[in-house]
Amino acid sequence: MAQENIILEHEKGIATIYINRPEKLNALNKVTIQELHETLQLIDENPDVRVIIITGSGEKAFVAGADIAEFADFSAEEGAQLAAKGQYLLFDYIEKMKTPVIAAINGFALGGGLELAMACHFRIASEKAKMGLPETSLGVIPGYGGTQRLSQIIGKGRAMEMILTAGMIDADTAKIYGLVNHVVPQEDLFSAYMTIATRIMKNSPVAISKAIEAVNANYISGVNGFDVEIKNFGDCFATDDFKEGTTAFLEKRKAEFKGK
Ligand code: COA
Repeated sequence: MAQENIILEHEKGIATIYINRPEKLNALNKVTIQELHETLQLIDENPDVRVIIITGSGEKAFVAGADIAEFADFSAEEGAQLAAKGQYLLFDYIEKMKTPVIAAINGFALGGGLELAMACHFRIASEKAKMGLPETSLGVIPGYGGTQRLSQIIGKGRAMEMILTAGMIDADTAKIYGLVNHVVPQEDLFSAYMTIATRIMKNSPVAISKAIEAVNANYISGVNGFDVEIKNFGDCFATDDFKEGTTAFLEKRKAEFKGK
């Protein structure tokens, strides 16, 4: 599938998606969001892809936000549609994927860029990454889930401060806040995420997808996460992966899990 604004690489079960508009600091325009959606849909269904990495092309930016030039003259209705469509196609979509998605933040992650990273299942960052939700400086608010996910991840007080000041934080502060799990030198970002992805790949893909669903359940209003956990726990017992995992343990060998 030819893509204009993203590059997909697939190596030994790990798919890396590079958002590739470096001349615009990888800003998310309509085409990029659509391409990301189509690519993610395809690789989530591919049994050979066990972990997905999203990162930015070049050294300067992960994603510097939604493409400001595209929405500068929107009406209120068009603005609401932009947010709804983006959340549906990309941000909520990633959060619910059965394949783990890790954001490797290689530079600026601002606005929609930080929202994209927050929709991923977790984040690692290079030392030179800078993160923020600067939307209020443009006279708008985060619209791709930022007001909700930032509070969920770092707590309400810190989220309020970041959103209301429109300021940026550096990678070390993001780690203290729990916004990113690891901070590594820029040149080590690739090996850092490959190491984590390789560890994930040793585990049951079916159990992993059920765990993602159960953890997410805590954040869905009206859903009891403990009930989802009980159901998904039970479902695991009927899977080949469970048989393989427990048999391998008892036989003192490494489990060989099949694809998703
Ligand atoms: N949307 C559209 N274009 C963007 C963009 C965005 N979110 N972020 C950067 N760009 C473009 C710039 O317009 C510029 O394009 P040009 O060369 O055609 O003029 C190019 O990317 C390089 O950006 P520039 O601002 O010149 O780089 P810089 O090093 O001076 O500053 C940033 C870097 C990240 C501080 C700055 O680009 C910025 O503030 N971007 C917007 C961040 C933002 O508000 N995001 C939230 C959007 S809702």
